[in-house]
Amino acid sequence: MRYVCQDRGSERCPCILMEAGQCYTCSMSRKGICDCSVTWQGVCPYTEYMQRNRNCIYPLEHRIFRVRERKNYSEELAVVKIHVPRGFALKCRKAGAFVIAGEDGWTVPLSVMECVSAAEESTIAVAVNITGPKTMRLMKRCSAGSLWQLRGPYFSGIVNGEIYGPEKLSVIVAKGIASIPLINIRSQIGNNMAAFYLDSRKLPEKFVFDFFGGMDFEKVSLQNDVEAVGRKIRKDYEYCLNCSTERPNLMFMTSPYFVQRISEEAQIPMRQIIFPNHANMCCGEGICGACSHTDNDGTTVRACKCSVI
Ligand code: FES
Repeated sequence: MRYVCQDRGSERCPCILMEAGQCYTCSMSRKGICDCSVTWQGVCPYTEYMQRNRNCIYPLEHRIFRVRERKNYSEELAVVKIHVPRGFALKCRKAGAFVIAGEDGWTVPLSVMECVSAAEESTIAVAVNITGPKTMRLMKRCSAGSLWQLRGPYFSGIVNGEIYGPEKLSVIVAKGIASIPLINIRSQIGNNMAAFYLDSRKLPEKFVFDFFGGMDFEKVSLQNDVEAVGRKIRKDYEYCLNCSTERPNLMFMTSPYFVQRISEEAQIPMRQIIFPNHANMCCGEGICGACSHTDNDGTTVRACKCSVI
């Protein structure tokens, strides 16, 4: 199988996996044989590694940031704005950006939902949604002035993010809290939105108003109408192909179950769909293995780093 790494060619490459002989996109590191004649992805992490005298880029460390404000939407859901340096906020604009909050030895991955990068003040916003003891604990430390330990940003919060093109038309379906990564790029999508179906049943009304209020969407219930939504997406997809001759950005920001169901109903392969990365993230650096699974080739894939092409 072939893999695409979120960090390949970036300032984080070559990472610690190269040092361990486990770089997913470099056969030199894994087998000592270069197969770039068939798998070339535009940059050579191995050359970079050799030029750095066999030194890799070491994992990011936690930094301390201050909470600017908190807005509660329900007992379980709050949006927290955090002061960050401007460069940090600028990086967070990328689709799929997330940060990892450290809390008493635990780590909580949080998708970036908004970022403001201004000379006077830069902030990012994240949603804290209580799902277990870690987020419950974090929720108690969200008031203005609280200090957070954050690492990031990381960019593997969505799968197939490399096929996203801000200039292309977009066909989107979103459901519940899985829609958060979409909020971060809604201004990039702007007028290129061809269709947007939102299942907001699990979101507080005020939250929908604040973050989707300016967008033109059709309310749907995936629980009851997934077949109908799949058919609509198929129609929208064909419409976009006809009028722009380019495949639209297909963004299914839902649980893995509904991503699969809609993909089947719309008869669109998963490779063409951008969807949230639901792997259990812990370190985000390819070290701990919390996000890993074994693919059909028997390779242990760390989903915080890479996905199958
Ligand atoms: S989250 Fe630790 S290896 Fe992926």
